[in-house]
Amino acid sequence: MQIVKLGGSLITAKRTRKGSRQTPLKMFRAAQAESAAAELARAPGPLVLVHGAGSFGHVKAHKYGLHKRNRTRPPKSKAITEVSNDVRELNLKFMRTLEENGVHGISVPPNVTITNRKGKINSFDSKFYKKYLELDLVPVSFGDLVYDITLGISICSGDDIMYELAKAFKPERAVFAADVDGVYDSDPRINKNARLIARMTPERFKELTCGVKNEEPGIDVTGGMYRKIEVCEAIASLGVECIILNGLKKGRLKKALNGEKVIGTYF
Ligand code: IPE
Repeated sequence: MQIVKLGGSLITAKRTRKGSRQTPLKMFRAAQAESAAAELARAPGPLVLVHGAGSFGHVKAHKYGLHKRNRTRPPKSKAITEVSNDVRELNLKFMRTLEENGVHGISVPPNVTITNRKGKINSFDSKFYKKYLELDLVPVSFGDLVYDITLGISICSGDDIMYELAKAFKPERAVFAADVDGVYDSDPRINKNARLIARMTPERFKELTCGVKNEEPGIDVTGGMYRKIEVCEAIASLGVECIILNGLKKGRLKKALNGEKVIGTYF
């Protein structure tokens, strides 16, 4: 079995455009989702998928302060409903894209399989994933709002779901398809001499964290690339091969799922 996360920055327009201060709201990148779905359709063996929320989740979650962990009372129900519906809207668009490409998926909404505690996963129920896999379906989960036993509601990122899936299923491989080639030693958008790190080790990560800050352009309420690296490190420490690759580059996702070496960062 392999687990794949399609980042919100891959299947939605998430980053602030050059010259604009506005982060786009709810922009599905149909062509990119379509080409990822076509590559997933050719993957060998069982698959579990996760996708991010991108501009369907981060913008409003930020606006309503849903990411804040020092809240004393739950956020307004209107805010919860809006964000919850928006991420489901994206999920349905993605499910339809999968369907059109012959991937028989079924949505597994995190708010019924996960509870959080102070903004972190407290319980994860893998039962539905198992049952759906037995029925030859591809379970598809996504970044969502979930019940939080201390905060009432909080954000559960797709990256954290990937870690829970890795723990529960010990898959052959965990792949994060992003809109960049992998992890760089400095920000490639600012520094044109930035070098891609082909193999990340805990030592290399420690060296990097001295300089790496979460400074993604646009809004990211779940920690951006820094958090992703932490999750990948944690998945690798379970003995599961983990790769961050560029899902916009044709063929890379398909090759990686077929066990071929691709350009990306391996953990
Ligand atoms: C975020 O999920 C969920 C919400 C903002 C509600 P992710 O953290 O997995 O989304 P991306 O991949 O960064 O867009």
